[in-house]
Amino acid sequence: MRVFNFAAGPATLPVEVLEQVREELTDWHGCGMSVMEVSHRSKAFVAAAQEAEQLLRELLAVPAHYKVLFLQGGATGQFAAIPMNIARADSTVDYLNTGAWSKKALLEARRLTGKVNIAADEAASNYTTVPAGEALRLSAQAAYVHYTPNETIGGVEFPYVPTPQACRWWPTCPRVFCRDRSRSRSSLSSTRVPRRTRSRGTGSGHCA
Ligand SMILES: Cc1ncc(COP(=O)(O)O)c(C=O)c1O
Repeated sequence: MRVFNFAAGPATLPVEVLEQVREELTDWHGCGMSVMEVSHRSKAFVAAAQEAEQLLRELLAVPAHYKVLFLQGGATGQFAAIPMNIARADSTVDYLNTGAWSKKALLEARRLTGKVNIAADEAASNYTTVPAGEALRLSAQAAYVHYTPNETIGGVEFPYVPTPQACRWWPTCPRVFCRDRSRSRSSLSSTRVPRRTRSRGTGSGHCA
C-alpha cells in the first residue's frame, strides 16, 4: 500500500516517476551508470540539466530575463547567503518575524550585517498571525526586506504579498524583497508571485 505524506516538507511522488527512477538507477540513458555517477560535463547530463531548468521555468512562469540558480545548502544556506550577497557589513536590513523560520533567518542576518530592523513581530499572538501590510515598519534605507510567506512549523501563511508600496517611505524604501518560498508544495509552486519588484525567492535546493 502506498503511504501519502502530508507533512509540510516532503511530497508524495507519482508511482510512474518512482518506477522510472528505479529502472534507470543502474543504467541511465544507456550510459551504463546512474545519473548521479555521470560526468556533470557530459552531453547527456548537460541536456538533462537544461531540460530541468526549462521545465521549472514553464512550471513557475519564470520570465526569460530571470536567471535560475540551482544551489546547494537548501533554504538554511540562503539565510546566510542573502545578507552576504545583498547587504554590506554596515547595512540595515528589514525582517518580518512571523515564527520559527523567520527567526532563524534574522538571527543569521544579525551575525552578518550592521543592523537588523524587525519590521514586524507577531510575538503578541504567539506567532499565530501575520502583520497587516500597512503595519509594516520598513526602514527607508534597508538593503532588502526578508519574510517567510509560509511558516511551515507554526502553520501561518501570508494571505497577501508584501510589496514596497506598503512602506510609508515609498518610493525610497527597499525594493528588494527576499521571500523564503521553501518547499515547493507549501509555497514555491503553490501561488504566483508578482514580479513587478525585484525579488529573490529561496527554496530548498533551488532559488527562484
Ligand atoms: C519556510 C521554510 N524555510 C526554511 C526551511 C529550511 O529548509 P532547508 O531544510 O532546505 O534548509 C524550511 C524547511 O522545511 C521551511 O519550510
